[in-house]
Amino acid sequence: MSTGRIPREFIEELLLRVDIVDVIASHIPLKKSGSNFVARCPFHSEKTPSFSVNRKKQFFHCFGCRKSGNAIGFLMEFSQLDFIEAVTDLAIFAGLSVPHELIRQNASYAQINFAALYTVMEGIAAYFVDELRTTEAAKKAVAYLKSRGIDSEAAACFMLGYALGDWQALTKQFEQALLIEVGLLGESEAGRPYARFRDRLVFPIRDKRARVIGFGGRVLGDGQPKYLNSSESPLFHKSKEVYGLYEVLKKHAKPARILVVEGYLDVITLAQAGVDYAVATLGTAVSEAHLELIYRYSSEIVFCFDGDKAGREASWKAVTAIFSVMKEGRLCRVMLLPSQHDPDSYLRECGKDQFLALIQQAQALSDYFFWYLTEHLDLSELESRVSIVDKSKQYLEKMPPSIYKDMMLEKLQELSKVNVTTYIKDTQRNTAKPSDHQRNNLTSLRLSLERRALIMLIQHPDLVKCFKEDQFEWAILDFKGVEIFLSILRFILASKPVNTAILLEMFRGHAQELVVNQLAGVELDIPINGLEAEFIGSINRLIEQAKINKFNKLLLKFENKSLNSTEQEDFKQLSKHRIK
Ligand code: UTP
Ligand code: MN
Repeated sequence: MSTGRIPREFIEELLLRVDIVDVIASHIPLKKSGSNFVARCPFHSEKTPSFSVNRKKQFFHCFGCRKSGNAIGFLMEFSQLDFIEAVTDLAIFAGLSVPHELIRQNASYAQINFAALYTVMEGIAAYFVDELRTTEAAKKAVAYLKSRGIDSEAAACFMLGYALGDWQALTKQFEQALLIEVGLLGESEAGRPYARFRDRLVFPIRDKRARVIGFGGRVLGDGQPKYLNSSESPLFHKSKEVYGLYEVLKKHAKPARILVVEGYLDVITLAQAGVDYAVATLGTAVSEAHLELIYRYSSEIVFCFDGDKAGREASWKAVTAIFSVMKEGRLCRVMLLPSQHDPDSYLRECGKDQFLALIQQAQALSDYFFWYLTEHLDLSELESRVSIVDKSKQYLEKMPPSIYKDMMLEKLQELSKVNVTTYIKDTQRNTAKPSDHQRNNLTSLRLSLERRALIMLIQHPDLVKCFKEDQFEWAILDFKGVEIFLSILRFILASKPVNTAILLEMFRGHAQELVVNQLAGVELDIPINGLEAEFIGSINRLIEQAKINKFNKLLLKFENKSLNSTEQEDFKQLSKHRIK
């Protein structure tokens, strides 16, 4: 049940030092409401707040999307951090430093492995840079960069490198098992590993924390395939990462907008020209995960795809992916380049000012969307007007409620002259019902006795003081979920967590993490001064029920004369108890 890498005592101290209300308030605006704080949930789109933060429990919970957790969990989810990163962030917030030497001592095997993977990637990137600078073979790569107009400053900023033509070059330098794990070696038909990138210009792909997680590689000239990526690995997931984000954030902590382009070289050429806020997808279609990632850092995304047919199709695909992440406050525009251009060639031919002017003129998402749908339609015809309602329906229905969505619907109404609200369901809005209040009442009504007891225990771990350990007959307890109940109870008895947040932390990564988190968020309407009595009452009733069940089972066996000697003893005890 431990968290592994960082000493548990440190995490407990951290969770005691910080106040989750301050942590969350530093990311989203919180409003006081009764004894809780509420906000619009940052993890799903909604108009009315169902995200609540409880200071006493040091716990957040959303009644809409059901996400919940402590301060560490919030940072992991909100800032897309892994556990160690979230603890480190929180420690900075609290003015503590994470005990590093202890990290290593306590590291579990899987985590040491991750560190090794990052280290080997760092080494490989440096090695490629070195090869570009020093080898004879790299001369043609240097010449190629020059021919593409890339200067040494940009090459250094993006850490560009060169992979030698040698099939075994990397294996001579780095451990083979690690190279395989990070996706840099392919396997020949005879099962022999070989370098995936040979005689290529290489682009390290870095995550927002500057760690190299993958590589792209381009042939020098016209060979095929033009680009390769290192394969998916524990560090690298193409559908979730974009190229150039780290380099953008190094220049601008909060860029006003981020351009999404198609190519590695588009990103680099743009940055070199001072348009240093572009990222590229890695040869895959734009995904919702890409968009969520980018919107974390900027409120406006501008799609800037190639002017060819494929680029236009990519724009439309990207736009259709954006609808479901289009929350209030997020903006999206689409920039169309002349048909023979990509951002790199346009910039080179027409210059930066003209490029900036094109950004200025980029179409708003709504304009682009309706322009694309109506391009070949004559809206004076009834059929065409019906057709745009039909075509836009699936996309608009995906949009979470926002003023923006209302405006899109208005625009559609204007174009189609159809009362669109009859055709386009506001699904997102409907799912917000029943209200949070109703939902809570429903859940607490249906809760079984044991569930309620468990919830009380999770939310008020100090209730264990009610148990006089030697008198408490917990061995007899027998109900669905009793293992969870007992493991939590044992845990609390052994380590006396001060609040729910610390209790939750101990269940991170545990099979029951989700259950414990969910139960921590259920609201039971028990007044605080009645809590202890209700808890003791429930436990006694549970014990009573368990005894009755056991007695009935033994009675059956007694009648069949199949009691063994311990059962006989138990039966005697229980019968006495029943007679009392
Ligand atoms: P393009 O073919 O438009 O390349 O592919 P580009 O960026 O203009 O390349 P240059 O200017 O000729 O160097 C755009 C992106 O699609 C992915 C790469 O990420 C590339 O940057 N791609 C392209 C691949 O993954 N594999 C390929 O074979 C081609
Ligand atoms: Mn290009």
